[in-house]
Amino acid sequence: MSKPKVFVTRVIPDKGLDLVKYFCEVDLWESEVPPSRAELLQHIRGVDGLLSLLTDQIDAEVIDAAGSQLKVISNFAVGFDNIDVSAATARKIPIGNTPDVLTDSTADFAFALMLSAGRRILEGNRYVRDGKWQTWGPMLLLGIEMKGTTLGLVGFGRIGKAMARRAIGFDMRVIYYDPNETEFDSDVKATQVDLETLLKESDFISLHTPLTSATHHLIDSEALSKMKSSAVLINTSRGPVVDMDALYEALKAKRIFAAGLDVTEPEPLRANHPLLTLDNVVIVPHIASATKAARDKMAWLAAKNLIAGLKGEHLPNCVNPQVYK
Ligand code: DGY
Repeated sequence: MSKPKVFVTRVIPDKGLDLVKYFCEVDLWESEVPPSRAELLQHIRGVDGLLSLLTDQIDAEVIDAAGSQLKVISNFAVGFDNIDVSAATARKIPIGNTPDVLTDSTADFAFALMLSAGRRILEGNRYVRDGKWQTWGPMLLLGIEMKGTTLGLVGFGRIGKAMARRAIGFDMRVIYYDPNETEFDSDVKATQVDLETLLKESDFISLHTPLTSATHHLIDSEALSKMKSSAVLINTSRGPVVDMDALYEALKAKRIFAAGLDVTEPEPLRANHPLLTLDNVVIVPHIASATKAARDKMAWLAAKNLIAGLKGEHLPNCVNPQVYK
């Protein structure tokens, strides 16, 4: 019997790729940059399954270009804002994602950004490299102490809760805003507040919300104007949750203390973006989940989702279970 055909839009860790290769005939996109729209439309034609990345825009046109035999879309990410879920659902195509396995790597990284931005670690590093370090100084590169400060979490899902657990170890108070969180989770010590209160009371604000029409530019100039002048903003969710122009203005005018961004709008951020002229922002290339352990597990889960879909079984992690009704 012939193997099902799949398109895998980038090289993923062997742990998952080997499993996919065992069960499927694989068209593997080996370049470091994603396929262009035209290349995606060409390579998806006739496949039974797609293993996509968050950099691939999977909309109705792409799904239809595959053909009616397409059985499953497996996204190598917990976020799935790159996929038109309603278009896939309307065509009864299940979509898989990779939650849980990157929770700790992402929370660790968001904390690293809080410390880097709050304690000016990259500025200090640049200061030394630029040959500016002359002596120990009582006023040199003063930052924000964590103990006793308030961490405001926008989004209190798995990663938000993992942040709260870490914050407790730093003796921080934790508040959160999450309109979708209805039940108090006694496992984590944190207080639910409205967004306005969170913006006003937090010393550190960390974003852990999916990108939806409701969260697009949630952090705009108005939101930034409500923050403390000593506030540090961290984004490891999706770039468009923050209005980057408004953030630039707020950081430049020192209306907030600093920011740490794992994600930007757009990605990649162009090398001459105005934010890169500022000292009080740390920007890294969407690597919060980038540990070997997390990426191996993401690859394994993405492969399991793909193969389950090809076999007509329920996906271990399905974002649109309505397709099974
Ligand atoms: C995700 O999985 O959605 C992250 O942004 C990348 O790991």
